[in-house]
Amino acid sequence: MKQVVSIVLILFVFSSLAFSILVPQPSLTLSYHNGSILSRDPLKVYILFYGSFSYSQKIVVRAFLSSLSTPTKAKDVPNVQKWWSITRGYVDLSGSTVAQNVEIGGESTDVHYRLGKNLTTANLTYLVLQYLQNSTASLNSLLLVFTAADVFVEGFCKDVCGQHLYTYPTIETNWKRFPYTWVGNAESQCPTVCGRPYAKFEYGAPTQTLKGPNDVGMDGLIFTLANVLVGVVTNPFRNAYYRGDASATEEAVGVCMDRHGLGFSPAYPHNILKDNKTGANFNVHGIQSYKFLVPFIWNPQTLSCAIQA
Ligand SMILES: *[C@@H]1O[C@H](CO)[C@@H](O)[C@H](O)[C@H]1NC(C)=O
Ligand SMILES: *[C@@H]1O[C@H](CO)[C@@H](O)[C@H](O)[C@H]1NC(C)=O
Ligand SMILES: *[C@@H]1O[C@H](CO)[C@@H](O)[C@H](O)[C@H]1NC(C)=O
Ligand SMILES: *[C@@H]1O[C@H](CO)[C@@H](O)[C@H](O)[C@H]1NC(C)=O
Ligand SMILES: *[C@@H]1O[C@H](CO)[C@@H](O)[C@H](O)[C@H]1NC(C)=O
Repeated sequence: MKQVVSIVLILFVFSSLAFSILVPQPSLTLSYHNGSILSRDPLKVYILFYGSFSYSQKIVVRAFLSSLSTPTKAKDVPNVQKWWSITRGYVDLSGSTVAQNVEIGGESTDVHYRLGKNLTTANLTYLVLQYLQNSTASLNSLLLVFTAADVFVEGFCKDVCGQHLYTYPTIETNWKRFPYTWVGNAESQCPTVCGRPYAKFEYGAPTQTLKGPNDVGMDGLIFTLANVLVGVVTNPFRNAYYRGDASATEEAVGVCMDRHGLGFSPAYPHNILKDNKTGANFNVHGIQSYKFLVPFIWNPQTLSCAIQA
């Protein structure tokens, strides 16, 4: 069994190496369309766990968010803070950059599944507006919604693993648009889609399975959260940093996905490290001894995809 795994890994390393050598790297630009970015520093994030999450699952989310702006031990490189600091290169019309300090402003859990277990995006918006009314979250904050493994959200697994969205202006939001993110725990519904590369692939392509640092559901959730967080701060209302036209846009992480052969995708992870104690595969260190897998981000200062500023 061990033998098989190592052969597959060697093939995998070889194929990703070949991939990066043979594919000429197109120069990449993500245009700025003059819209606002999330620059208010610190960025206060509020967490809504919808459905049942264990204590240890919640801790993983908090640890990741805290790692965005907390330095790790000098030897722990690459790390989440240096990964996040790539977003400092994103500047708006007034010269402000994406917030570098991220603080958790509050957290709540809906253990009662108040809207059931089959949600539409309109339902997510409803939850967000209710949260805004009942908490100290201001309109300058960012709400992060996480749905439990037994909750289906429109498009989940088929089109998306998570998304960043915004509410339409209403009286509750003082006629402003309020950005939020949603990420689902895919552990029981589609680990092979949203839990890669930690769950076995269903179709074609590489068949190796990496060992995650946390659990399959949460490692997939963190990878998607990392993606949508970068998306929401650099393109909260879909009129700031992106490339392509309205029907097919790519944001700061999307442009670095594998089809360009430039950076990272769940199918072709690069820069994978291994924790010698636990055997877990990861690519960034977090606070304490946490480890995570995050996607590459397009760096506007170097015009290339990177995992560290
Ligand atoms: C952004 O603003 C600049 C200067 O105000 C203007 O020249 C440019 O056309 C605008 N770009 C877009 C995409 O609106
Ligand atoms: C969720 O509801 C939609 C209709 O509102 C239905 O088509 C779909 O099958 C339901 N999905 C699940 C997983 O129950
Ligand atoms: C949730 O979405 C369903 C389907 O669109 C809708 O019928 C229902 O009213 C929504 N519930 C809330 C509270 O928004
Ligand atoms: C928010 O307030 C509404 C109305 O006061 C209440 O029905 C709802 O249960 C509250 N939601 C939360 C998440 O506390
Ligand atoms: C794990 O062990 C290898 C080989 O002994 C070493 O090169 C590597 O630095 C170690 N990794 C960590 C994270 O300590």
